[in-house]
Amino acid sequence: MSGSAVLVALRGVSFSYEDGPPVLDGLDFEVREGRTLALLGRNGSGKTTLMRLLSGGLRPREGLLTVGGQPVRHDRAGLTRLRTAVQLVVQDPDDQLFAASVGQDVSFGPLNLGLPDAEVRARVEEALAALDIGALADRPTHLLSYGQRKRTAIAGAVAMRPRVLVLDEPTAGLDPDGQERLLATLASLGATGTTVVMATHDVDLALRWADDATLLTASGAHTGPASVVLGRDDLLAAAGLRLPWGVAVAHLLRARGLPDAPVPRTPSELADLAERIPGTGG
Ligand SMILES: Nc1ncnc2c1ncn2[C@@H]1O[C@H](COP(=O)(O)OP(=O)(O)O)[C@@H](O)[C@H]1O
Ligand SMILES: [Mg+2]
Repeated sequence: MSGSAVLVALRGVSFSYEDGPPVLDGLDFEVREGRTLALLGRNGSGKTTLMRLLSGGLRPREGLLTVGGQPVRHDRAGLTRLRTAVQLVVQDPDDQLFAASVGQDVSFGPLNLGLPDAEVRARVEEALAALDIGALADRPTHLLSYGQRKRTAIAGAVAMRPRVLVLDEPTAGLDPDGQERLLATLASLGATGTTVVMATHDVDLALRWADDATLLTASGAHTGPASVVLGRDDLLAAAGLRLPWGVAVAHLLRARGLPDAPVPRTPSELADLAERIPGTGG
């Protein structure tokens, strides 16, 4: 993995709900600056639980949450500081939105930080623009489409200017155009210095979007470059996932005269590779 700084981490974290069985056991998980990270695993594997531990909504039974290498204290001051470092957007926007209008909802976090009004307004404007919903600022949240509600929920997190933005299944329920627009938005957030972590079931999306991937399986968390982790048949089977198309295609190309073929992540990368197959080019 790259040598970039660890922004936030779970170290040796174990967690279970009340009298339930352990959901996570001795988990080590790191978010590195500038490296997009996809979190995958079957339903009930603990993705949402991990994200809530990472953003301070749940407290580890054992182990530590660290920000910038320092343990986070789960008291008021510690959690307030954490909120400016890590922001979670939950899967269902209706669990997150509560204010009457889009602008009010997005301003809630910055207002709660006690920022001056002008600063709050600037952040709200910036967040609405980043999510491309500036025109919706005065719209009542209950009149928004599902995709617009998702964007509003993400804007609320972005307005906190977190180092790390954690999204729980953000593309679930979006149509293909909505997914593409969201990925473009996340790319521009990444380009302006926000590190994005996303839980998803979509192995093709993860391969295309993520630098690194973590697979949650019964034997624990497995992390590495997305094209490596998502090429491990054993881990994918344990996580109840199939091989991404790009990895399957790379296997095929390697068997067809391109032994060093990298894993194509986009159609244009695939087209470039196809040109190189012996006997098919010019
Ligand atoms: N609030 C809760 N109370 C009790 N058990 C829960 C709660 N939330 C999740 N669980 C259990 O924890 C396990 C992990 O769930 P979750 O983190 O939601 O997984 P995922 O997001 O990967 O589907 C599941 O067995 C689930 O039933
Ligand atoms: Mg979940």
